[in-house]
Amino acid sequence: MTNGVPGGEDLSRREARIEKFYDRYGPAREWGRFETPIGQVRLAVITEFLRRWGLPAGRVLDVGSGPGRFALWLARQGARVTLLDISAAMLGAARERFALHELTADGYLHQSLFDLAGNGLAPFDLVLVLGGALNYYPDEMEAALRLLRGLLKPGGRIVGSVMSTVGALAQSLGVGWLPEPEITGEELLAVYRSGMLTDRFSEHRAKMLHAEELRAVLKRSGLQALDLSATNCLLSLPKPQLEALAARPEVYSALLKAEFDACRRNPDAGGHILFAATGT
Ligand SMILES: C[S@@+](CC[C@H](N)C(=O)[O-])C[C@H]1O[C@@H](n2cnc3c(N)ncnc32)[C@H](O)[C@@H]1O
Repeated sequence: MTNGVPGGEDLSRREARIEKFYDRYGPAREWGRFETPIGQVRLAVITEFLRRWGLPAGRVLDVGSGPGRFALWLARQGARVTLLDISAAMLGAARERFALHELTADGYLHQSLFDLAGNGLAPFDLVLVLGGALNYYPDEMEAALRLLRGLLKPGGRIVGSVMSTVGALAQSLGVGWLPEPEITGEELLAVYRSGMLTDRFSEHRAKMLHAEELRAVLKRSGLQALDLSATNCLLSLPKPQLEALAARPEVYSALLKAEFDACRRNPDAGGHILFAATGT
C-alpha cells in the first residue's frame, strides 16, 4: 500500500487503522457532520468556495470522498466525478446516494490515495481532498500533495481542507472540553505550537495546521496557493444563537455573505482551513 511514499510499513499500518475507523464510524455520522446549525454554516462556506474555485468542474477526482456530499454537488453542476476512499462503507454509501439522485459517477475507487501513483488515470481538471484526510499523514503530507498535483491537467486545481490548529482548539474549548487532569499546560501548548495530536488527544495521530504552515507545505509540494479560507469564523456561535438567526432568513443570508468574507480574511479561524491551489 505504500507505493514508494516515505512511511513504509508504518504508513500501511496507519492506513489500515484509518480504514477500520471510518468503516466503523459510518457514513451516516459522517454525512450528519453538516446537518447541525454550525455544519450548515460550514456547508455554505465550502460550497461557496467550490463555486469560486471548482467550477466549471469538468473531470473531478474526489479523494477521501466519504459519503460523497461534495462529489454529488459537483455532479449536479455537470461534472464527471470519480470518487476514491479507503473506506468501503463510505464509498458504498456514496454509490447509493448517486443512484438515489439518478446520477452516475465515472468510478468508485476503493483504495488509499497513496496508491494513486502511476495507476494510469487520465488527468483531472479538479482534485478534491476535503475534510482532512491529509491531517492523518503528517510525515507524508507533502508526498500526498505532490501525488495529487501529478494528477492535474495543465491549469487544473486542487481544492482541499485541513484541520486548523486554532479553529479546532477553539471549537473544543468552546463546547466545554476540559483536558484530562493528567494533561499539563505545557502539553497543551505543545499541541498549539506543533498541531500534533498524539494518542493522549486523539484516536489517530494527526497534525493540525496553522495557515502559514499550510502555505509552506503547498509550496514545498510544487503548488501555488490561490486562496485560503476558514470553514467558519463570524458565525462560530452556540447552537441556540445560530438557530435563532437562521429563523430570520434575511438577516441570516446577510450574515452568511459576511461569513464568506470573514472566513477568507481569517483562514485559521474555523474547524478546517480550505485551500485552492494549482501546480507551479
Ligand atoms: C472526514 S472524512 C471527509 C469526507 C468528505 N471529503 C467530506 O469533506 O465530507 C475523511 C475521509 O477520508 C478518507 N481517508 C482517510 N485516509 C485516506 C486515504 N489514505 N486514502 C483515501 N481516503 C482516505 C476516510 O475514509 C474518510 O472517508
